[in-house]
Amino acid sequence: MERIKEHPLLSFERKKLITFFFEGREVSAYSGETIAAALHANGIKVLRYSTKERRPQGLFCAIGKCSSCLMEVDGKPNVRTCITPVRPGMIVRRQHGRGEISE
Ligand code: FES
Repeated sequence: MERIKEHPLLSFERKKLITFFFEGREVSAYSGETIAAALHANGIKVLRYSTKERRPQGLFCAIGKCSSCLMEVDGKPNVRTCITPVRPGMIVRRQHGRGEISE
């Protein structure tokens, strides 16, 4: 797991350990984390592919102000995963472009 455990200024309260699904794979997260943070902690940094060039994209602003982290969540496309909390059992998939779902 790629998760910050200690920080000189911040403290992290770890809540309940849960699982959700990324492209059919079960991954773990702590309740209260965002989807993107949980994916990063599991080593998953490509969140979508750009519309025209199909280039891989990951976190950019991380505050809900761009489209770099848009993913399909429980069948709903274009969810900003950097600001959306993870929930147990949710199904997350990468998008190709805006709203097209990867295979
Ligand atoms: S990374 Fe910019 S909205 Fe999520």
